[in-house]
Amino acid sequence: MTYDNSRLTTSWGAPVGDNQHSMTAGSRGPALIQDVHLLEKLAHFNRERIPERVVHAKGAGAHGYFEVTGDVSSYTKAAFLSQTGKRTPMFIRFSTVAGELGSADTIRDPRGFAVKFYTEEGNYDLVGNNTPVFFIRDAIKFPDFIHTQKRHPQTHLKNPTAVWDFWSHSPESLHQVSILMSDRGIPATLRHMHGFGSHTFKWVNAEGNAVWVKYHFKTEQGVKNMDVDVAAKIAGEHPDYHTEDLFNAIANGDYPSWKLYVQIMPLEDANTYRFDPFDVTKVWSQKDYPLIEVGRMVLDRNPENYFAEVEQATFSPGSFVPGIEASPDKMLQGRLFAYSDAHRYRVGPNHNQLPINRPQCPVHNHQRDGAMAYGDNGGASVYYEPNSFGGPKESPEHRTAPFEVSGQADSVAYDHDDHYTQPGDLYRLLSEDERARLVRNIVDSMRPVELVDIKLRQIGHFYKADHEFGTRIAEGLGLTVPSEL
Ligand code: HEM
Repeated sequence: MTYDNSRLTTSWGAPVGDNQHSMTAGSRGPALIQDVHLLEKLAHFNRERIPERVVHAKGAGAHGYFEVTGDVSSYTKAAFLSQTGKRTPMFIRFSTVAGELGSADTIRDPRGFAVKFYTEEGNYDLVGNNTPVFFIRDAIKFPDFIHTQKRHPQTHLKNPTAVWDFWSHSPESLHQVSILMSDRGIPATLRHMHGFGSHTFKWVNAEGNAVWVKYHFKTEQGVKNMDVDVAAKIAGEHPDYHTEDLFNAIANGDYPSWKLYVQIMPLEDANTYRFDPFDVTKVWSQKDYPLIEVGRMVLDRNPENYFAEVEQATFSPGSFVPGIEASPDKMLQGRLFAYSDAHRYRVGPNHNQLPINRPQCPVHNHQRDGAMAYGDNGGASVYYEPNSFGGPKESPEHRTAPFEVSGQADSVAYDHDDHYTQPGDLYRLLSEDERARLVRNIVDSMRPVELVDIKLRQIGHFYKADHEFGTRIAEGLGLTVPSEL
C-alpha cells in the first residue's frame, strides 16, 4: 500500500475534503451535524488539556545522557553505574513549585530537578530539587504546606500571611526558607544551578551490603543567580525566560552539563550521627562524608513535542532499580505513594506506556487493560501467575535487601529537634553583601503579613539561628526581637 504523506486526514485516517469551511445549508448556514470532521475537530479541541501537576506545574524538559566517570560499583550493584565510561539515556524536567502552568519562570521558588534514567534494568527516577533540603520533614504536612504556597480560597491571590504563618509554626522549615530567600532563590537560568536528590537513599552492592547515600549534581556552567529587580522585570516582560534559555542553549549546541557526586554514609553511622540523617531538613557535613564522583550528565536534545514529552512525563521517587532503595525518611516514604497516584489521575493508569515514560528495556508482567492501553497489551502471552505456560519469572537475586525495623508504632516526631544550627551556619558563611540581600528579601516578603504575632514568631526563629540575622530582620520590619528569646 502506498500513502500520500502530504494528505490531510481525519484522526481515523480518511482524507479531509475541506478543512476551512464547515458543511452548512447554503452559504448562510446553519451547520449540518453530518459534518463529522467538524464535530471531531471541536470535540478533540475541548479535551486538549490534562490536569496540570498539583505542584511543579510550570516546567521545561530536555533529553541527554549520563556517563559514569567514577567507580561506585563497591557501593551499588545498579547496572547503569557499573563501570566507568558507561552511558545511559536520560530525560530531565526542571520546574518551579508553586506557580501554575503559565506562571513566570523568574519567581523566587525552589526549582524541581527531576531526572529519569532509562537503564537496562528499568527506569530510575531521581526527583529532586535545586536545594539540598526541604521545608518540612513529614509527608503528613505536605498538603497544608502547599495550600499556603498556592492561592487564597476566597481572593484567589497569593497569600504571604499564610506562607509565613505556616513557616513560623513549622521551625523545621527555617533552613530551606533561608536558602530560598538567599541569592539562590532565583537562578539566572536552569543551566546555572545545582541539583540534589535531597533525601537519603540506600545503595546496595552485589554482596548485599548497604550504605546510605545523598546525591549532588554540580552544574558545570557555574552557579549564577538573578538580581531580584531584574527577575521582577523579566517576569513581566518575558515570563518564559528560563524555558527559552534552555531550549536555545541546546538548539545552539551549547549543551549544559552537570557532574554527579554522592555522599556515602555507613549504615551504622545513622544510629550515632549528631542528627537524624533521614531528616530532609538537614545536610550532611561534607567533612564527615566527602563528595565522591559518580558521573556526568549532558543535555543534548530538545523535546520534539512539549505535550508528549514534557507535560506527559511522569517521575516517581518510587521508580528504583536493583541496587538503589528507599530510606526511612518520612517525607520520602509519603512520596513513594504520592507520585504514581498523581500520575494515574493526571495522565492515566497506563502512563508508563507512553513513549516518554516507557522503559527502554523489555517490560514483562501480568498487568493488562485499563484506559488507553495500547501496543499489543501483552498479546496472547500468559496473563496470570503462577502458571504452567512459561510466563516471566521473578528473580530472587533482585529482592529488596532485608532490613531491621524496631520501635513502637505511634504518630511521633523525629527525636532530633535542632532547627537552628544549620541555618545559622548558612548565614554566617555569607559575605556582608549576601547577608544584606538575604535580609532584604525576607523583609520584603514578610512586610505584607497581616498579623504581627506571625512576624514576631518568625523573627524569633531567625534570631535563634543567629542573633544578628534575627535582629536585622526585626529592624527591617520596624519591630524588636521578642525579649523572652
Ligand atoms: C511533583 C507530591 C515533596 C520534588 C510532585 C507532584 C506531586 C508531589 C503530587 C506532581 C506529580 C505529577 O503530577 O506528575 C509531593 C509530596 C511530597 C513532595 C506528597 C512530600 C511528602 C517533594 C520533595 C521534592 C519534590 C521533598 C524534592 C526534593 C518534586 C518535583 C516534582 C514534584 C521535582 C516535579 C516532577 C516533574 O517534573 O514532573 N510532588 N512532593 N517533592 N515534586 Fe514533589
